[in-house]
Amino acid sequence: MNLMTLYDDVINEDCSMIVPETLNTPHLVLRYFRPEDAERVAELAGDIHIASGVLNIPHPYTIDDARDWIGQHRFLRDHGEEIIYAITVRESAILAGAISLRVNTEHAHAEMGYWIGRPYQGYGYATEAAGSMLELGFRGLSLHRIYARHLSWNTTSSGVLTRIGMVHEGVMRGHASKWGVFHDVHWYSIMDDEYYSSSVHADHPGRDPSGV
Ligand SMILES: CC(C)(COP(=O)(O)OP(=O)(O)OC[C@H]1O[C@@H](n2cnc3c(N)ncnc32)[C@H](O)[C@@H]1OP(=O)(O)O)[C@@H](O)C(=O)NCCC(=O)NCCS
Repeated sequence: MNLMTLYDDVINEDCSMIVPETLNTPHLVLRYFRPEDAERVAELAGDIHIASGVLNIPHPYTIDDARDWIGQHRFLRDHGEEIIYAITVRESAILAGAISLRVNTEHAHAEMGYWIGRPYQGYGYATEAAGSMLELGFRGLSLHRIYARHLSWNTTSSGVLTRIGMVHEGVMRGHASKWGVFHDVHWYSIMDDEYYSSSVHADHPGRDPSGV
């Protein structure tokens, strides 16, 4: 599939993706994960609060789990399947979370997923990082649609998705099982024409995370 892109050769003929190593936002730098991030990822994603909101994060979550996960990123990127960035705080370079786009080139759509470590929540980081991934997805990868989903209780995530201009598409009842409990799953999306005609993608103001 020949996807027109703003970035040169973002998707190669073999479907591998060349995406920027870093994305910059006012308060964040999104960068590729490194093997040495494993301990930090285990520390943040090992918090049960993170695992409870993200279907594919197990609990407990070990450093080896984090190493395995980081070890897959290059392959996923090279095979045009998924782009995963570490969310780091611009001022301190501290790793605060993760964000991803799981891409389906045939349908020119992608699913966004993210988590922010508990000490860094409430500063607008997820909103800012998610806005930046929309820019990469639409302007960089020429996607047609980007979507996301959350478990029904996760109103914080629904706030993030709404703030970046996604619309609520509907609910799949009892769609996901987490730790033996079935949850309704809420679906959100934004289409390319909505993205380009929207004004919500101006920089999201963040709070000063001093003391974190
Ligand atoms: C969902 C999650 C990613 C949100 O991350 P976050 O960085 O805290 O998100 P934001 O800071 O952008 O928004 C969180 C809240 O802070 C508020 N906030 C953000 N910037 C703010 C600012 N400058 N001043 C005051 N409040 C602010 C937002 O309004 C929002 O409030 P709301 O919940 O009432 O809507 C995080 O809670 C998380 O990782 N949860 C566990 C994993 C998970 O659920 N992942 C998503 C799966 S779908």
